[in-house]
Amino acid sequence: MATYVVTGASRGIGLELVKQLLARGDVVVAAVRDPSKASNLNALNAANLHVIKLDVEKPETIKEAAATLEKQFSSIDCLINNAGVLGSLAKTSKADASDIAWVHKVNVLGPLAVTQALLPLIKKGKKKLIANISSTLGSIGDKEQYMENDDARRGNAFAVGGLAYKMSKAALNMQTMSLAAELKDDGITVICYCPGWVITDMGNSGSEAFDGKAAPTLSAEDSIKCQLKLIDSADLSKSGKYFAHTGEPLPW
Ligand SMILES: NC(=O)c1ccc[n+]([C@@H]2O[C@H](COP(=O)([O-])OP(=O)(O)OC[C@H]3O[C@@H](n4cnc5c(N)ncnc54)[C@H](OP(=O)(O)O)[C@@H]3O)[C@@H](O)[C@H]2O)c1
Repeated sequence: MATYVVTGASRGIGLELVKQLLARGDVVVAAVRDPSKASNLNALNAANLHVIKLDVEKPETIKEAAATLEKQFSSIDCLINNAGVLGSLAKTSKADASDIAWVHKVNVLGPLAVTQALLPLIKKGKKKLIANISSTLGSIGDKEQYMENDDARRGNAFAVGGLAYKMSKAALNMQTMSLAAELKDDGITVICYCPGWVITDMGNSGSEAFDGKAAPTLSAEDSIKCQLKLIDSADLSKSGKYFAHTGEPLPW
């Protein structure tokens, strides 16, 4: 039994992570923007579930959440920085600066602030793992090989819109690598991974970038089964690495 913190736990991948972690007996802190509206989460009604308010865009809620957790827990084993937004899918030539700034606030500065606030508790944990949920869309490396064998998407990741999202995940990857290097001597593992193209609100919206010619086929349930294998196997030897949900390494 370990203690996990999952951000963005109200729906999609975050909610399914919470469900599967609880099902195997872990203690889960589910961080959401508005606990009163997280009806699917509250319906889980599990003894090992702790729902807290945390909006990654609002530093005061991160500070308050960290203070609450310091009182309730002596340590945290694993932080999963899952909360994220997609932003505009406009073509790069039409990308909007304010959209790019907002997406970076949520997808890059959010995980950094949450990690910084929870680091004292993570240092006291047994597993000492920080997992940042990234995307293959943040990869500047080999797109041909990693676009999931889907002709509609193959080689298209640079050409389609969503610059804010793609840049934010590339920046999150750099954050992962930098933190991993810095925290290695503390025994803390930091990884990032793509969950696959998953059927969630965000995953479904993503098909717009491909003019509806491609859509997600991976269920959240199956993605999370794979993610948990990756998380369970993560140790210092994997720190600073970028994975597909299958555990295959991804090119930066
Ligand atoms: N689905 C995919 O195919 C896919 C592929 C690659 C990577 N990812 C990544 O996987 C993660 C989860 O995606 P998803 O598909 O589950 O997306 P989703 O269905 O759109 O859910 C996003 C979650 O993030 C939360 N969130 C958004 N802004 C937040 C904020 N400021 N503070 C706290 N929570 C916030 C949402 O909370 P509210 O309910 O309050 O809005 C929601 O719980 C994201 O980091 C995403 O980039 C997803």
